[in-house]
Amino acid sequence: MKGLILSGGKGTRLYPITYTSAKQLVPIANKPVLFRVIEAIVDAGIRDIGIVVGDTAEEVMEAVGDGSRWDCRITYIRQEAPLGLAHAVKISQDFLGDERFVMFLGDNVIQGGISSLISQFATSDYNCQIVLKRVEHPEQYGVAELKDGRIVRLVEKPRHPKSNLALVGIYMFDHHIFEAVNAITPSWRGELEITDAIQYLVDKGYKVYPHIHEGWWIDTGAPGDLLEANSLVLDEITHTIEGYVDRDSEINGKVTIQKGAEIINSRIRGPAIIGEYSRIVNSYIGPFTSIYHHVLIEDSEIEHSIVLEYSKIIDIPQRIEDSLIGRNVEIRRSPLKPKAYKMTLGDNSRVGIL
Ligand code: TTP
Repeated sequence: MKGLILSGGKGTRLYPITYTSAKQLVPIANKPVLFRVIEAIVDAGIRDIGIVVGDTAEEVMEAVGDGSRWDCRITYIRQEAPLGLAHAVKISQDFLGDERFVMFLGDNVIQGGISSLISQFATSDYNCQIVLKRVEHPEQYGVAELKDGRIVRLVEKPRHPKSNLALVGIYMFDHHIFEAVNAITPSWRGELEITDAIQYLVDKGYKVYPHIHEGWWIDTGAPGDLLEANSLVLDEITHTIEGYVDRDSEINGKVTIQKGAEIINSRIRGPAIIGEYSRIVNSYIGPFTSIYHHVLIEDSEIEHSIVLEYSKIIDIPQRIEDSLIGRNVEIRRSPLKPKAYKMTLGDNSRVGIL
């Protein structure tokens, strides 16, 4: 089997973070989501992986490289515009050939990996298998209707859902999917929809089966989802302390301190991770927080947040919570009079002031 990861798209819901960077490279527990996806596919025994890339191609290619780090081979497939998930499959036909493959959205995180479902599909005679998850608000998702254990209908965001089974961003196909993606036409939003392509397979009598996933699954497309994924992953990973913790600091619970990091006169309550060469000085880092590399936090408190590289948070009197802070951001108390908020914020930034 081969793997196909979708890492194009626009990432509009994550502006302003994604103005300057690919959303698939935002770290969850200090590891880019895309790296977690590659690891899940490699762990399932697949070594030949295609990555569909768009506007952020250069950045993705630089971060991922040729795959040798994961002992796999990566082929990049350029998509000229985000014309839909089925369009991404269509342009990948040369890479995929006649092999069965798993398609994984590059911004999704799933608990427990995909080894069991890959082995089920690899040995079955199914033409397609899609991963579903029971959700509370199916009207917000693509929803599958089943009959006698088979999928009979897929509906995008139905007003009156007939099941609570939502499509997770993981799909398995054989080569018949090319017949489908070549037959369908763009939807009202101008995209070739993967749900239409799968519906085509169903209507033509191909075998389309579900795999119901029981663990958690998160699409990290929006800031709240990123924080939730970060919390869940932080709670599950194995933690290690490689950096320096001084005698005046206190570390409680599941905490990783990566190499070169320094914790000075501070308290860190896990689950949390402090990245390489970051400095935490006279501060409190609360549960579910990921501080990425080369960050400085001084005389401040932060919890349930993600801070990206080279940012500085200094002398902030109130605790920062539920925040996603980009690269090279500075948040500090303004020393000069008049007493005022002084901000340089990019387009679509959001600030909550007490
Ligand atoms: P989406 O989250 O549906 O789309 P998006 O990335 O454009 O985000 P937003 O809605 O915030 O603007 O995409 C799911 C995944 O698939 C994501 O990793 C991007 C990728 N993708 C492609 O590679 N090509 C495409 O044509 C589309 C639509 C998405």
